Amino acid sequence: MKIIDYDIRSIPRSYMRRIIDLYIKYQDVGATDPGFKGWRIARQFSHYWDRNNEVMGCFDKNDDLVGFIAWIHNHIDDPYRGVPFVEFDEEKGRYVRSGIWWHEQLLVVPKHRGNDIGRTMMNTMLNMVNGRIRNTCHEEWLVKFYESFGFENIYHGQVPKNPDQLYWINERRSEHSQEES
Ligand SMILES: CC(C)(COP(=O)(O)OP(=O)(O)OC[C@H]1O[C@@H](n2cnc3c(N)ncnc32)[C@H](O)[C@@H]1OP(=O)(O)O)[C@@H](O)C(=O)NCCC(=O)NCCS
Repeated sequence: MKIIDYDIRSIPRSYMRRIIDLYIKYQDVGATDPGFKGWRIARQFSHYWDRNNEVMGCFDKNDDLVGFIAWIHNHIDDPYRGVPFVEFDEEKGRYVRSGIWWHEQLLVVPKHRGNDIGRTMMNTMLNMVNGRIRNTCHEEWLVKFYESFGFENIYHGQVPKNPDQLYWINERRSEHSQEES
């Protein structure tokens, strides 16, 4: 199938049950804590809807949900460096705290993979997000996938609670982002 056979659109909280089902069935990377695959995933997605962040779904010809992407914005300091995220504010003529976007979810059900859905959902998100954005991944090929959207790998290491599992942190900056000192 081609991407024109799919519809990508914003989805409301009523899709929670369907998302959890897909997550439990197919999201096998990064879920190092078994408890994550239950109420925690519901809590995670609640945050996206409660705080007016975005969850987008991809639907096939039968209008079945076959993929999703979600992202969130917050103003916490950089958890890895302990300093604020800043951007240059043209009007104020100085750097101001900007917060950061986190791209936290991306999944396509296996049967529909390789049809450009993942790539199209990524581009949809990046067209809607203004500013610095990060994500994490647990497989090396995904670093290349994210690099193709302008992300750069800024860290890789072992998951603290599970030293057998590696993870990578990727970041895409806007032109106004400043290096932390
Ligand atoms: C990641 C994922 C969403 C990609 O979805 P998809 O719809 O198959 O992606 P696309 O069809 O847009 O293809 C993406 C690219 O990745 C490449 N790719 C896909 N699977 C790959 C693999 N196992 N190894 C290497 N490259 C791979 C494709 O060749 C394609 O490259 P191209 O656009 O340069 O041709 C899907 O594999 C998935 O749901 N994986 C499980 C969940 C997951 O890992 N999510 C990411 C969490 S960080």
